[in-house]
Amino acid sequence: MIIAIDGPAAAGKGTLARRLAEAYGFALLDTGLLYRAVGMKVVAADGDLDDEEGAARAARALRPDELSNPALRSDAAAQAASKVAAIAPVRAALLDFQRTFAHQPPSPAKGAILDGRDIATTVCPDAEIKLFVTASAEIRAKRRYKELLDRGLSAIYARVLEDLEERDARDKARAVSPLVAAPDALVIDTSAMDADRVFATAVDFIKSRN
Ligand code: C5P
Repeated sequence: MIIAIDGPAAAGKGTLARRLAEAYGFALLDTGLLYRAVGMKVVAADGDLDDEEGAARAARALRPDELSNPALRSDAAAQAASKVAAIAPVRAALLDFQRTFAHQPPSPAKGAILDGRDIATTVCPDAEIKLFVTASAEIRAKRRYKELLDRGLSAIYARVLEDLEERDARDKARAVSPLVAAPDALVIDTSAMDADRVFATAVDFIKSRN
């Protein structure tokens, strides 16, 4: 079984994906890390994030062990990710890895959960469960801001909101695999929900499909 979770940044996808993976014993792939790793590789090589061929080469050379770099969690990595994510050959280069993970998850997992922006629409249109997790930009920015402060980092709320909106706009406007809910996805607006309620809503939907 494949569970696809898509949605904009800081909507609660990651938390939901982790909780579902634990509850069902499924393997989890945070696909944002792939784009973050490609973006950071380009930046580290002093490359240009608009150079399609350079970014595609970085995507083709990506190794799974490069996904555990803590620097991938930074806002700089997020912005670099959303730039290289608009490049069609980058997306094409990352497709096989994601599909193999979805269809042959590492043993002993009985299924796979992938979270990202285009899992239900492009990577796994055959996923049995499709969830689109969203929330207002202000709520998402507040959550991200609090998370940064909790991690001991300094942040300015207005800047966090601006960065999120910039990234959302780029993800929605790109020509290839834009951020959009699949027609058969359950849309969960987490603006006024806590993590327990989001989890319960997803579990009810999964039960209703089995
Ligand atoms: O989910 P995360 O914030 O880590 O994603 C970083 C960026 O990677 C997103 O803003 C988006 O541009 C890109 N991305 C994507 N497709 C995915 C996952 C992430 O385009 N499946």
